[in-house]
Amino acid sequence: MEDTAIVTSIGLPNPITTDESDGAMLEVVGGTPLSGQATISGAKNSALVVMAGTLLCSQPCRIRNIPHLMDIERMGEVLTALGVGLKREDDALVVDASTIAHTKAPYDVVSRLRASFFVIGPLLARMGVARIPLPGGCAIGARPVELHVRGLQAMGADVHIEHGTVHAYVPGSGGRLKGAKIYLDYPSVGATETLMMAATLADGETIIENAAQEPEVADLANFCRAMGARIRGAGTNTITIVGVPSLHSTDYGIIPDRIEAGTLLVAGAITRSELSLYPVIPEHLTAVIAKLHEMGGQVVVEGHSRVRYLPAHTISSTDIQTGPFPGFPTDMQAQFMALMAVCEGSSLITETVFENRLRHVAELNRMGADIRLNGNCAIIKGVHQLSGAPVLATDLRASAALVLAGLAAKGTTTIQGLHHLDRGYDDLEGKLRRLGANLRRYTDAAAATTTA
Ligand code: UD1
Repeated sequence: MEDTAIVTSIGLPNPITTDESDGAMLEVVGGTPLSGQATISGAKNSALVVMAGTLLCSQPCRIRNIPHLMDIERMGEVLTALGVGLKREDDALVVDASTIAHTKAPYDVVSRLRASFFVIGPLLARMGVARIPLPGGCAIGARPVELHVRGLQAMGADVHIEHGTVHAYVPGSGGRLKGAKIYLDYPSVGATETLMMAATLADGETIIENAAQEPEVADLANFCRAMGARIRGAGTNTITIVGVPSLHSTDYGIIPDRIEAGTLLVAGAITRSELSLYPVIPEHLTAVIAKLHEMGGQVVVEGHSRVRYLPAHTISSTDIQTGPFPGFPTDMQAQFMALMAVCEGSSLITETVFENRLRHVAELNRMGADIRLNGNCAIIKGVHQLSGAPVLATDLRASAALVLAGLAAKGTTTIQGLHHLDRGYDDLEGKLRRLGANLRRYTDAAAATTTA
């Protein structure tokens, strides 16, 4: 049965506030084997940028398979602040951007959700003007936006930064961006998405070279194509977009979340358990599956949209270097570090995408891991077993790594800083619990009496 309502909170059946997550604590009792099947939610990073992409269209769009996440709530707040109408229908979201009342995004939301900066492309393309506060740094690095800005300038936009806000407008009458040839110095996911969206309504052809090839970029292109955009090559390193005057309404389903699937595959590996995951797109998991095979586990692809993890008696060490797709995803680095912490032998992780994404090392070491840091490299000497400890989640994927470590540890691990987990995992606790894990959330860490 469909539950349709106009909403202020768009994603969560019982919306979690940051304050609640901040005071909360997750208790994980390790040593329980897992079994069964988990359902994978829609991809966070696709859903966020597709929501931004709805700004391109002056008719309502329906997006299916939207995950229930704090980040989705925040993107909804940005769209609402711009005057866009939102309606939640179960796991779908109807976005009506027929009228856009404002072209300035609010700082308090943009500062908490970096991806909301990506509205700059569609807003500028549709309205000829956009004012978006600089998102600032975040837990994993400084994360500048100069590639987005330079690309928009190449398309004829006037862009300057004043008082912490990026002011962009298209000079001349009509306010239409112009197609351009853009080479990205780095295949940034966000910059590729910003520029691809902007180009859909531009005058003429845009070619983005050295574009990001992540599946979420291809998903965004498919969504734009479903609205009538002319895009070729998304998912490769060269994307060609021929601008059209306007886009039309569509009904579109988001791809499954490859990072959630990868995280649950590691849950199978670290607890030596057999797990089945559905739906997934196995080709999106190639690097993750290859590394699990190298470490001795087996991932069997069943049909087009299911994978099964078959446990190995012994997990061996390996080396990982993160990189743009199809390289090993930085968003899986922390989870693999938890696995390497309890495997046979020494592993090396080199983080090349973000400059400050190894802060979970200290927390894993508190649980008895033996990890040394050398610049952007972590040397992980596998130990026989981790031991439960109080730990603090330092970013989104680090929080998942601590949950995984807790599942394998002896005794009880208590994790604080849960607002990170709630940003990007759709009911990870519920999914793990249904697989047999022993974990529960206390809404008030200090009192640790009430569960949620
Ligand atoms: C996206 C994902 C994030 C993932 C990342 C890399 C979303 C909402 N988030 O983030 O989960 O970890 O891709 O796969 O989709 N950079 C610059 N200048 C720029 C833009 C980026 O120097 O203008 C740098 C960043 O600081 C970072 C690197 O490029 O070091 C990669 O960033 P990017 O690919 O843009 O990641 P996001 O799109 O922010």
